[in-house]
Amino acid sequence: METIQNIMTRRSIRNWTDEPVTEEQRKIMLEAAMNAPSAADARPWHFVTMDDPEVIKQFTNLGGTEMLEQSTLMVLVCGESAKEMYPGFWPQDCSCAAQNMQLAAHDLGLGCVWIAIHPLEEREKTCRAILDIPENITPFALLAMGAPNEKLDPEYRFDAERVHQNKW
Ligand SMILES: Cc1cc2nc3c(=O)[nH]c(=O)nc-3n(C[C@H](O)[C@H](O)[C@H](O)COP(=O)(O)O)c2cc1C
Repeated sequence: METIQNIMTRRSIRNWTDEPVTEEQRKIMLEAAMNAPSAADARPWHFVTMDDPEVIKQFTNLGGTEMLEQSTLMVLVCGESAKEMYPGFWPQDCSCAAQNMQLAAHDLGLGCVWIAIHPLEEREKTCRAILDIPENITPFALLAMGAPNEKLDPEYRFDAERVHQNKW
């Protein structure tokens, strides 16, 4: 899929079939995530991948997350601020990695949704408890994936009023 077409057709998918994500697809998505840009190339990220339904089920009580039970692969993107060269950039770095993963999922024909974790302290705490994440690592974003069981039309959101040329 062409890059621009991929970006313009990606939607958040929240319904999945029980067809598993293959090991090859999982690897491609992690490779895409870790090829993201990061401040000073610090790569302050970690990825916890989950395919055990018993583990996945524990995330269905976050609030509005009942659908996660159908997800066949979830990835928790986490930040490690100690790996930063310039303090404060890790959320931007992790966002780049997470978005690369979403676009890779779309390219592979998978459906993906980003579930907010950071900076919601309760959700961070829940992720830590379920996955035994150490204190120096911050749970950042949960990406839930699987073979899509819904098809959403692309949305065109370009807004010329948000573009400021040469000055505001
Ligand atoms: C930082 C961030 C947090 C999000 N959190 C959630 C969430 O907790 N639950 C959810 O269902 N979708 C979540 N989403 C997905 C958005 O709702 C979705 O991207 C937005 O409605 C636009 O729709 P689209 O992704 O289909 O283009 C999140 C997206 C981002 C980027």
